[in-house]
Amino acid sequence: MAPTKKILIGCTGSVATIKLPELCEKLRDHCLEFRVVVTERAKHFLKESELPPGTQILSDTVEWAAWQDRGDPVLHIDLAKWADLFLIAPLDANTLGKIASGICDNILTCVARAWDVKKPLLFCPAMNTRMWDHPITAPQVELLKSWGYKEISCITKTLMCGDTGIGAMAEVDTIVQATLRYLNSWEPYSSLGRRH
Ligand SMILES: Cc1cc2nc3c(=O)[nH]c(=O)nc-3n(C[C@H](O)[C@H](O)[C@H](O)COP(=O)(O)O)c2cc1C
Repeated sequence: MAPTKKILIGCTGSVATIKLPELCEKLRDHCLEFRVVVTERAKHFLKESELPPGTQILSDTVEWAAWQDRGDPVLHIDLAKWADLFLIAPLDANTLGKIASGICDNILTCVARAWDVKKPLLFCPAMNTRMWDHPITAPQVELLKSWGYKEISCITKTLMCGDTGIGAMAEVDTIVQATLRYLNSWEPYSSLGRRH
């Protein structure tokens, strides 16, 4: 039997993090195993009680508590090895900028910095139209794509702030379909049968 595919979901400080329960439920319906890494700002939008029972939420607090002495796990490295696919949904403007410039100052950006670019990484930008339209955004998105990362494009709608425009995170169904597509098309084993 094929091993269960493992997805690491990353959530940042965008209001679209409120969609995490729906995203988790739909991934679970497809029998995918997942864990979640969050930034400190993402926590503000998280309602853990709405998540499927047993969902692992991993934050800086968890990471730093886990390492006390030599031999203890370094969580961001273990997670980067564990996951078959990294799905950053939502990716806010701040973390987009950090990943694009190699900054790794929290568990999510450390996983991103330790990510094996041969494995799929999907990112779902989510930000106000004014941020999206700023000239810094497009080159940062293009840089991530040049590394092989896949953009799940943001959409136009009335945003949480009341403005209508481009910048909302893609619909959860779109994200789940793209995740399934990239998971199924990715071959984690080389012709020699060794893991990349
Ligand atoms: C209510 C609220 C909603 C926000 N929504 C977004 C958003 O959708 N996209 C975004 O890029 N920033 C948004 N921000 C700003 C980010 O939370 C802020 O840049 C933060 O520093 C991001 O930190 P992180 O990238 O470490 O999660 C929002 C801030 C607030 C207070």
